[in-house]
Amino acid sequence: MLSVLVLSILLQRASAFWRMPCTEMLLGRVDPVVQPGVASAHVHTVVGGNSMSNYSEKDGLSLSNSACTSCVIQADKSAYWTPALYYEYPNGTFMMVPHGGSIVYYLGRGNNATRVPFPPGFRMVVGSAAARSFAQTPLTYMNQRPIAEQVSWLCIADPSQPETYGLNQTDCPYGLRSQIQFPTCWNGIDLYKSDQSHVAHLSGIDSGDCPPTHPYQFAHVFQEIYHQPNDVPDQQPGGRFVLSTGDPTGYSLHADFMNGWDQDVLACAVENCALGEQDGDLQDCPCLLPSYNPNTAQFCPMRPSQVVETVTGLLPKLPGCINIVNGPAAAQPADMNCPPSVVAAGPQLLPTPDTSPVYFDMPVVNQPYGLPNWTYLGCSNDTNNDRALQGYSFSNGTGMTIQTCQAYCQANFFRYAGVEFADECYCGGALLNNPVFGPLSTQRENQCSLPCSGNGSTYCGGGGRIDIYINPTIEALPVPSPKQQVGSYSYKGCYIDFGGARALRDYSVANGSIGPDVCAGFCQQHGSRYFGVEFG
Ligand SMILES: *[C@@H]1O[C@H](CO)[C@@H](O)[C@H](O)[C@H]1NC(C)=O
Ligand SMILES: *[C@@H]1O[C@H](CO)[C@@H](O)[C@H](O)[C@H]1NC(C)=O
Ligand SMILES: *[C@@H]1O[C@H](CO)[C@@H](O)[C@H](O)[C@H]1NC(C)=O
Ligand SMILES: *[C@@H]1O[C@H](CO)[C@@H](O)[C@H](O)[C@H]1NC(C)=O
Ligand SMILES: *[C@@H]1O[C@H](CO)[C@@H](O)[C@H](O)[C@H]1NC(C)=O
Ligand SMILES: *[C@@H]1O[C@H](CO)[C@@H](O)[C@H](O)[C@H]1NC(C)=O
Ligand SMILES: *[C@@H]1O[C@H](CO)[C@@H](O)[C@H](O)[C@H]1NC(C)=O
Ligand SMILES: *[C@@H]1O[C@H](CO)[C@@H](O)[C@H](O)[C@H]1NC(C)=O
Ligand SMILES: *[C@@H]1O[C@H](CO)[C@@H](O)[C@H](O)[C@H]1NC(C)=O
Repeated sequence: MLSVLVLSILLQRASAFWRMPCTEMLLGRVDPVVQPGVASAHVHTVVGGNSMSNYSEKDGLSLSNSACTSCVIQADKSAYWTPALYYEYPNGTFMMVPHGGSIVYYLGRGNNATRVPFPPGFRMVVGSAAARSFAQTPLTYMNQRPIAEQVSWLCIADPSQPETYGLNQTDCPYGLRSQIQFPTCWNGIDLYKSDQSHVAHLSGIDSGDCPPTHPYQFAHVFQEIYHQPNDVPDQQPGGRFVLSTGDPTGYSLHADFMNGWDQDVLACAVENCALGEQDGDLQDCPCLLPSYNPNTAQFCPMRPSQVVETVTGLLPKLPGCINIVNGPAAAQPADMNCPPSVVAAGPQLLPTPDTSPVYFDMPVVNQPYGLPNWTYLGCSNDTNNDRALQGYSFSNGTGMTIQTCQAYCQANFFRYAGVEFADECYCGGALLNNPVFGPLSTQRENQCSLPCSGNGSTYCGGGGRIDIYINPTIEALPVPSPKQQVGSYSYKGCYIDFGGARALRDYSVANGSIGPDVCAGFCQQHGSRYFGVEFG
């Protein structure tokens, strides 16, 4: 019963929010919003439009002229940037923590039924690079929540380690996620104010009302940044993780946004695809689909920072004029335009379009893989309208692993199991329609390249891409051949059918022991020219 319910939710999900996996675009001391035209105080990890490297850009408008973006929707040339995470060895040297990309969500949150798109040239910053402790005040509108709850950290798929506002836990075998809630309310006047008074949070930060001073409600932008702290080599007692701001507490987590959207596409998506709480499959948002490109690492690879200095590898100090401040007192603002501290010894380690490495820097999944008797088949394209596996399915935004998917399909006697879009699992008795592109190859890694929501060091497909496994010990179902003739009705074919747009709308009946004959009788009684049976 449960699986039936879950399946129908997946099938009926309408366009309700959307989320965009993004690879890294640039690493370096650039910050065209807070510190335009100079080397910024600390190192940022940027995802988004590739004209971002012009750190002297002031109005954001040239972002929309980016050749491409490292987020999967090419109509969004916006840039989103956050401080980089480093590991400090006991001897005082630093190493950047491997980054697993970012996911940017646009959610239909907030009580106002009307949402406005970001205006051209709009910018905002959330969080404070100086913070070193949790601030109980100020509070959001209606005094509902401390504003400091806008940033948080999560050890992925480890229920013993709850989400925290500081960087409490860094032993995260499945990955560590930093999370940012951007302000959702706008005063309708200013594209940017350096004190951020042009924007405000919803009363509940990710829900509730906009204050009357900021009546214009955007789609709620939520950004997740993936880190792999356990992949830092040679960790030792006395070592610690610090943000590029010189912050071991994690409270200085912050993010900048600069609008580079194609305004028509954004307006269409905000109006039609940011409406509620359901699953955020990009494929359900027609406004976004034409510019969907999942192969961002290849299509829009990282580019060098205009501030030429080494920011990865073993560093004698954090880039910039950064002192580590332990808190709880706030840090003084660090010098900006501090000269490049560690000049690159040779060319920077940056991928070029043709040799671009895997989308996420993770170990390659070997085959066979997962539970006993399951073998990896390959990566396939997969769309809502033409699923490769059409049996049961479920999703788990925090706990999907290849093994849980295989176990679920096995328990329900399905021979095939497939993981998709980080957190979806599909089962099938047969592999339908879609080609399997074969075992892992460089080319395919850019397609099935999202980390599993429950184990950040394995892959769970991609957007419109499914990793398929087979358990040959489970008996293959014959692909059913329908009766060609039922009474006076003849077989026409198999059609897609959704709750919101049924193929046949006049009469219906559901009955656990129904079959084509019963349905034919029922529809004939009603004088219907067509009948159809669905979902067992
Ligand atoms: C970088 O910014 C400067 C100043 O805004 C501008 O003159 C220049 O054309 C920009 N370069 C690129 C490559 O966009
Ligand atoms: C500091 O420690 C790291 C990690 O053990 C090591 O790789 C590096 O060589 C050390 N650097 C110095 C200057 O001792
Ligand atoms: C995280 O660390 C802070 C500061 O040490 C502490 O006050 C807080 O209780 C910790 N939170 C959790 C959930 O462990
Ligand atoms: C809802 O948003 C519109 C602008 O889109 C604004 O004029 C109106 O005041 C808002 N309503 C409330 C209750 O904030
Ligand atoms: C999947 O890819 C194949 C080969 O590129 C193509 O023929 C097929 O139409 C695609 N199917 C879907 C559902 O996109
Ligand atoms: C998601 O997975 C986690 C970890 O396995 C589990 O604790 C949680 O109950 C799952 N959530 C749902 C809705 O199944
Ligand atoms: C997570 O994936 C890694 C890498 O494949 C694997 O070694 C590990 O066992 C997985 N963890 C779990 C709990 O499945
Ligand atoms: C794997 O398949 C073999 C052969 O059908 C079976 O005997 C064995 O129990 C299976 N192992 C598991 C763990 O399912
Ligand atoms: C379901 O169909 C069977 C077989 O036609 C019939 O006997 C039964 O009464 C039906 N049940 C309901 C609730 O309509």
